[in-house]
Amino acid sequence: MEKTLVLIKPGGVSRNLIGEITKRLENRNLSVAAMKLMNAERSTVEKHYAEHASRPFFGEVCDYLTSGPIVAMVISGANAVKAVRSTMGATNPVEAAPGTVRGDFALTIDDNLVHSSADADAAKAEIELWFSEGTVK
Ligand code: CMP
Repeated sequence: MEKTLVLIKPGGVSRNLIGEITKRLENRNLSVAAMKLMNAERSTVEKHYAEHASRPFFGEVCDYLTSGPIVAMVISGANAVKAVRSTMGATNPVEAAPGTVRGDFALTIDDNLVHSSADADAAKAEIELWFSEGTVK
């Protein structure tokens, strides 16, 4: 059993896709272990994207993540890290296969609806960052 972090970004929340995205994860037999609708602190977002700090899009991606409410959730299940990433599709929506969240609902990389942890180490660090209070399940 693995756990991973998912963020539904401001575009996903404003387009009322919380249910659709969560349904796709639950349909795959992944479980919601923790979930909160929140306005993210800039300092949390900067820590979250620290590996991208030198990239030209760092400022924009931090602006975007703090531009409106997001959903942070912990998803658990067998092979959760890889299963969630394949459910979401490629980071760039124009490369995401139809049937994936990004392939079905997104068009541009700056508004790619969701974030999910890249690997088990990132998942552990990101869950600790976003759910310092601990998870429910
Ligand atoms: P995410 O999985 O949240 O991780 C970093 C985010 O930066 C990425 O999704 C994109 O939304 C955003 N981003 C914007 N421009 C780029 C880019 N050129 N390459 C990678 N990520 C980008």
